Amino acid sequence: MAENLGRVADFSPDDEVMLQDVLRGLALPEKNIPSLYFYDQRGSELFDTITEQPEYYPTRTEIGILERHGAEMAAALGPGARLIELGSGSALKTELLLARLEDPAAYVPVEISREHLLAAAARIAADFPGLEVLPVTADFTEPYELPEPTRRRVERNVAFFPGSTIGNFPRPMAADLLANTCREVGPGGAMLVGVDLVKDRETLERAYNDDAGVTAEFNLNLLVRLNRELGADFDVGAFAHRAVWDDDAARIEMRLISTRDQRVTVAGQAFDFAAGEVLVTEYSHKYTPEAFRALAEGAGFALARTWTDPDGLFSVHLIEVPG
Ligand code: AVJ
Repeated sequence: MAENLGRVADFSPDDEVMLQDVLRGLALPEKNIPSLYFYDQRGSELFDTITEQPEYYPTRTEIGILERHGAEMAAALGPGARLIELGSGSALKTELLLARLEDPAAYVPVEISREHLLAAAARIAADFPGLEVLPVTADFTEPYELPEPTRRRVERNVAFFPGSTIGNFPRPMAADLLANTCREVGPGGAMLVGVDLVKDRETLERAYNDDAGVTAEFNLNLLVRLNRELGADFDVGAFAHRAVWDDDAARIEMRLISTRDQRVTVAGQAFDFAAGEVLVTEYSHKYTPEAFRALAEGAGFALARTWTDPDGLFSVHLIEVPG
């Protein structure tokens, strides 16, 4: 193991939290399950495959923005950054930024999928031998301690939140998350956030209903996981995937639709589904640049820069906490 890779700080939620979240969500009149539970090992792999689908534009568009403007981003961030990545996944975009940053103090990936975290942390530690890598397993919306670098003084905390993961949160929760991050990075700190932009319904719905059926498998894998880890008895073949754009709420809604009347049992509790009944598994909110700016400013940040691609599909924002 590389000597620049620190040991993993573990703040992962336990199975009890997942069970309570699932029981609570299934008991609601409009049934839902929080989207963070997509990301077991199989779910994380399937998400990576989604990002390679021709219809799923966000990942490749954001990578294009980082390739094209990464040097400007790095210059704006300055030397000695402690780069904290929220929901690092396989951290493929991170390398684009790290390669351009001047003498970063440490890289702190925070990720709920332990296997994904370890693989990505080891790869980055190997690719950047001079960089201290300090991984944290946690749900980044819950409190965790920021590991301290041992080799270099931190000039500035920088939260890196690519991939439009912010879109998974309803707007009030997205505001809370930004406000918490604002406190976490502190005065003079910064955040680099990838945000998917509002666009036409067809492009959006195609991105979440790919022809190869990878998003469908990703969505259904959630039920496979609940069966395995919580002893639930979902008949995975009796649910159908569908993603729908809600123009008023400016969000994609990922649904699993019950194809017949059925009863599902989780930890001894029964939940009835009518034929056609919807289980919401994820929201993916989209923003206009103006709407995102208002959100960031409401959370205590000032907008420093916005970069987009030539087609205006996706945006990356540098927001800063006044020093
Ligand atoms: C990882 C939250 C950015 O909302 O586009 C992809 C997850 N869900 N296809 C998104 C996802 C279905 C993705 N994020």
